[in-house]
Amino acid sequence: MTSSGTNRGGPPNSLPTIQAPWPAAWELLLPAAAAPARARGRTLQTALREAVRSGRLAPGTRLPSSRDLAGDLGVSRGLVTEAYEQLTAEGYLRSDRGAGTWVGEAVRAVGPRARDRAPRRAGVLADFVAGTPDLSLFPRSAWSAAHRGVLAELPHQALGYPDPRGLPRLRTALAELLVRRRGVVADPERVIVVSGVAQAMTLLGFVLHARGTPGVGVENPGSPEHGSLFASAGIGAVALPLDGEGLAMAELRASGVRAVVTTPAHQFPTGIAYSARRRAELLDWARSVDGLLIEDDYDGEFRYDRAPVGALQGLDPEHVAYTGSVSKSLAPGLRLGWLLVPASHVEEVVERKRTMDLGNPVLDQALLARFVERGDYDRQLRRCRRAYRERRDVLVAALEEHFPGARVSGIAAGLHVVAALPGRYGPQDRFLARAAAAGVTVRPTAHYGETAVDGVRLVLGYAHLPPARIRDGVRLMADAVRDQGARREPSAP
Ligand SMILES: Cc1ncc(COP(=O)(O)O)c(C=O)c1O
Repeated sequence: MTSSGTNRGGPPNSLPTIQAPWPAAWELLLPAAAAPARARGRTLQTALREAVRSGRLAPGTRLPSSRDLAGDLGVSRGLVTEAYEQLTAEGYLRSDRGAGTWVGEAVRAVGPRARDRAPRRAGVLADFVAGTPDLSLFPRSAWSAAHRGVLAELPHQALGYPDPRGLPRLRTALAELLVRRRGVVADPERVIVVSGVAQAMTLLGFVLHARGTPGVGVENPGSPEHGSLFASAGIGAVALPLDGEGLAMAELRASGVRAVVTTPAHQFPTGIAYSARRRAELLDWARSVDGLLIEDDYDGEFRYDRAPVGALQGLDPEHVAYTGSVSKSLAPGLRLGWLLVPASHVEEVVERKRTMDLGNPVLDQALLARFVERGDYDRQLRRCRRAYRERRDVLVAALEEHFPGARVSGIAAGLHVVAALPGRYGPQDRFLARAAAAGVTVRPTAHYGETAVDGVRLVLGYAHLPPARIRDGVRLMADAVRDQGARREPSAP
C-alpha cells in the first residue's frame, strides 16, 4: 500500500483541510479493484461520488495524489485521473493544478446516510499538542514490502522466544544507525530493544530502585511522563530547574540525587540544546558521584537549521544510559525503541526486560532491522524532516504575522516551538479559554511545570498539522483574543 498524503496543503478556496476519515483505508471506501476490468473506472467514479454525497468524505477532505490512490486501490493511475476529472467537472471535487484535489463544499450530504452519520468531533479545529508526528507520513508501502521480505526470509526457528535483549540482527542495525546518526558508542551487545522510551525509563527505574537509589532527578520544566514512569517503578522524582544552558548545576549538586533524566539535544519542552559547557559539567558530575545520566533522545533526529548535536552518551558511555524510539520518526503505535546502558547495568536491565515481557515481538524487530538495513529509515527521516521544516516555517511566519512581538524559541529542531506572547495578550487563563472557545487547543508551558510565567507562554506542536491548519489555527486564535485588549502593532513605515 502506498503512503497517501491526505492532509498536506490547503484547498483552493481556503476551506480548512480535513484529514480523510480513514486515510489508510481507501480500498475499503472505494472498492474498485474487485470490479471486472471493464467496469473499474465506472465503479470507482460511483463509489467516490457516493462517498462524497453521503458525507463519508467531508467537504475539505484532501484526496491522495492519483498515483498514491491508484497504488492503494490496485487500479491504473489513468482510472483515478479520469475519476478525479469527471467528479471535478460534476462539482463533487475541486482541484488546483499541481496543488491537489479536495472534496468540494457545494455538495451537501443528503439521504438517510447523512442523518445516521456519526457527528464530526465538534469544537476543536486545531490542536497544537506537542510531540505528535504526522501519522499519514508512515511509509506504508516500504513497510509492507519489508513485511513481505521478512516473512519470506525468516527461518521457522526465529519464531521462538527471542533473546530478551532483542534480535541480534536488529541490535546490529541499530548500533550502526545510532553510531552514524547520533554519535553514540554502540556495541550491539549493549543495545537493548525496548517498546519505547517509556519502557526504557521503567526498566531503569526498577533497576535503580533495586540498587537502593532514593530518587531520580527530572528536568523542570520537562515531560510529566518522566516522573510518573519512575514513580511506577517505586522511585520518587526530584524536579530540578533549568537555566539557559540546561539543567542548573548548583541545584543538581545540592539535590543529592545520583541519577538524572535529561533531554540535551532538544530539551523538552523549552527546545534549548544543552551548551557544550553544560554537557561537560554534567558528565563531570556523573563521574564525581558515580551516577547515571539518563539521556532521552526523543526527537534528536529532527534538526533544521543548526549543526547536529551528537548524543551525550558518545562522550562517556559508562555514565550515560541512552534511549530513543521510532515514535517520532515512524509512529508511536509501533512501540519500538532502544536503550543503551553502561556495562555495569546491562545484566540487570536485561533480566528486568526478560521478566517484564520476554522480549519484543520478533516480526516487528525483524521488520525494523530490514527497514534500517536497506536505507528506508534514512529515507523516512529525510521525508519527515522536509515536511516538518515546512510546517515549522509556516507556524513561525503565522505567529509573526498574527502576534506581533511574540518571541518564538526552540525552533531549530524538534516537533514543537515555545511562543512567548507580549504581556498585552494576558492574562494567560483568559487567553487559553478564548482560544479554546474558538476551537484552538494550546497548552501553556505551565502544563510542563514552568512556574513564575509572565504573560502567555505556549508550547506549540506543529508536526501533525497540515500547513493550512496551522495558519488557520493561529489566525483563529489571534481573532479570538484580539478584543482582549491585544491590538496589532502599527506596521513600520
Ligand atoms: C520527552 C519525551 N520522551 C519520549 C517520548 C516518546 O516515548 P515513547 O518512545 O515511549 O513513545 C515522548 C513522546 O511524546 C516525549 O515527549
